[in-house]
Amino acid sequence: MTITQDGSRSTAGAASERRGMNLTLRIWRQKDPTVKGKMVTYKVSDVSPDMSFLEMLDVLNERLILDGDDPVAFDHDCREGICGMCGVMINGMAHGPQQTTTCQLHMRKFKDGDTIDVEPWRASAFPVIKDLAVDRSALDRIIQSGGYISVPTGTAPDAHAVPVPKKDSDAAFDAATCIGCGACVAACPNASSMLFTAAKVTHLGLMPQGQPERNDRVVNMVAQQDREGFGGCTNIGECSAACPKGISMENISRLNHDLLGALRAGARPKS
Ligand code: SF4
Ligand code: FES
Repeated sequence: MTITQDGSRSTAGAASERRGMNLTLRIWRQKDPTVKGKMVTYKVSDVSPDMSFLEMLDVLNERLILDGDDPVAFDHDCREGICGMCGVMINGMAHGPQQTTTCQLHMRKFKDGDTIDVEPWRASAFPVIKDLAVDRSALDRIIQSGGYISVPTGTAPDAHAVPVPKKDSDAAFDAATCIGCGACVAACPNASSMLFTAAKVTHLGLMPQGQPERNDRVVNMVAQQDREGFGGCTNIGECSAACPKGISMENISRLNHDLLGALRAGARPKS
């Protein structure tokens, strides 16, 4: 409802105020990893600016299902920016035009009449499963190769039994906010996973509990990312710019520092 110049109330404008955006989507469709994919164009109308990007895809999928067509496959879980499952290239940018996760990107970032390209993460270490969904298990295998600490069982230690300097705990906490979404890999021209691995190495390596395995951790995680086919880091910085959690390049410096120290100390990756 709007108030007109003469003070009377009118509902005439309400429909137009509510009217959403009309968009053209060009979406990567690929039935499975064995066939070639292609961009397919869809029109969506009356898209609310308050919808998340994934909700907009839900609306498209509901229509495709009602029409008897195959819905667009995409990954998602929490839809709150914490699980790291969602993630697509939107107009060539990992997670789209805002430094956040795709589930937290809202349609108000786009304009009525826009054409939006939606593609899966592009990296040979992330093979396409279907449409926009890719296999990111390579990141899990990097974690398995060293992203853990060994904790003796028994009663819980007293709080503050092991003092940790505030600057270390802050940096470890910042690194621990990495959600493993893979945007850093998708944004990097080398498809490097260095920012992800650096975040994991940092968040354990700065804590006292992470010290016993520190050298083995870094050499094994770096070796695993090479085995998975991720590219090398050339300090371009696209990873950090695309990271929805703002993981900084400083973590990559820490990883390199740790790696050199570990190699000098004689640590070698498990074959
Ligand atoms: S470093 Fe950032 S972009 Fe890379 S996986 Fe972690 S949260 Fe995602
Ligand atoms: S769906 Fe969990 S971070 Fe987007």
